[in-house]
Amino acid sequence: MSNTLQSQFFSYQAQTTPYAAGFEVSHARGSYIYGKNGEAYLDFVAGVSANTLGHSHPRIISAIKEQAEKYLHVMVYGEYAQENPVKLCEWLAMHTPAPLEMTYLVNSGAEAIDAALKLAKRATGRSKILSMVDSYHGNTHGALSVSGKEIHKAAYRPLLPDVEFLKFGNEEDINLLDNKTACVIGETIQGAAGFIRPKQSYFKTLKKKCEEVGALLILDEIQPGFGRTGKLFAFEHFGIVPDILVMGKGMGGGVPIGALMASRVLMLQFSHSPKLGHITTFGGNPLIAAAALATAEGLVEENVMEQIPEKEALFRHKLQHPKIKSINGMGLMLAIELESDEYCLHIAKKCMENGLIVFWQLYYNRFMRITPPLTISQDEIVKGCDIILACLDQY
Ligand SMILES: Cc1ncc(COP(=O)(O)O)c(C=O)c1O
Repeated sequence: MSNTLQSQFFSYQAQTTPYAAGFEVSHARGSYIYGKNGEAYLDFVAGVSANTLGHSHPRIISAIKEQAEKYLHVMVYGEYAQENPVKLCEWLAMHTPAPLEMTYLVNSGAEAIDAALKLAKRATGRSKILSMVDSYHGNTHGALSVSGKEIHKAAYRPLLPDVEFLKFGNEEDINLLDNKTACVIGETIQGAAGFIRPKQSYFKTLKKKCEEVGALLILDEIQPGFGRTGKLFAFEHFGIVPDILVMGKGMGGGVPIGALMASRVLMLQFSHSPKLGHITTFGGNPLIAAAALATAEGLVEENVMEQIPEKEALFRHKLQHPKIKSINGMGLMLAIELESDEYCLHIAKKCMENGLIVFWQLYYNRFMRITPPLTISQDEIVKGCDIILACLDQY
């Protein structure tokens, strides 16, 4: 048996599908990932919206190195005041509107979703949760319970009780909220469904109803957050502020992180009656927080978000082709719709053969995701779009 990295990968590292690409990575810089023979792949996926400032951004690498020289892990979450996590939480408080003020740092998006659901139940004393059809919130039992695609859930039932689903963007369904509802949870832009953006009035109507019945609005910005739509968080486009904001992915700039933000009053619920309401050993880890803080500061200091509308316009201008049926999403969270799931998978494979990494959406594979690093240049956008267009012409 050969002893390549790929063969060892298939032998020893547990797989999520029977057909992983098994691409052998050498290193990654900026908008490119390099294979072991030095071949360069332009990255239109960014680790599924995680590499906000591109690969190995010098400010992130040096922040990690600086913290690593001082100390790594010293104590479980919440016990000690450590510079990077404290500064990160302060930065978030300074860059988000009231009442968002305190941040709870955890290890992943799904864990942050679980914590947000617990907080809503704890704060309201209610158990009913409303979520959205076709939503994706992660793969822990809690996050899976509120995800809206039965095919991914059926094998794991029973899941959380008292969860019901609204049609995303449907204002009539909002009437399902009542005074037993602890919270409504939704993505600001639905991801796995194909980057679906609701009509402009939707979140205002939803938030108003939440206030009427005393339910909390949880927005999952794990994917659209951290600048991807051109604002720090996508809710800023819709004129509302959620009660609990959940983030992850792009927040870490390439390291694993999740977090939830809420008002001080809400967030302090975790600290009493019972105390230790949500605990985790590595949440708020200083190394991870160093990377997240560097990402946040880079987003602002390098004017990354200001350039997003122009880059979105360039993508939309370039990606005109008879085989592209629509372009969903906003900012650098775009999805092009092709004729079928099989065709999209085929084109993604052909793009890779031609030096471009693209991917498909989890629930509806006919949507091809375009979520490059936010720092991608105009020339790189043109180059990548030309590869997609050539593949669509040829196959
Ligand atoms: C909208 C949304 N919510 C939650 C998650 C889960 O985050 P994680 O994979 O970090 O657990 C994801 C990940 O893809 C996501 O896109």
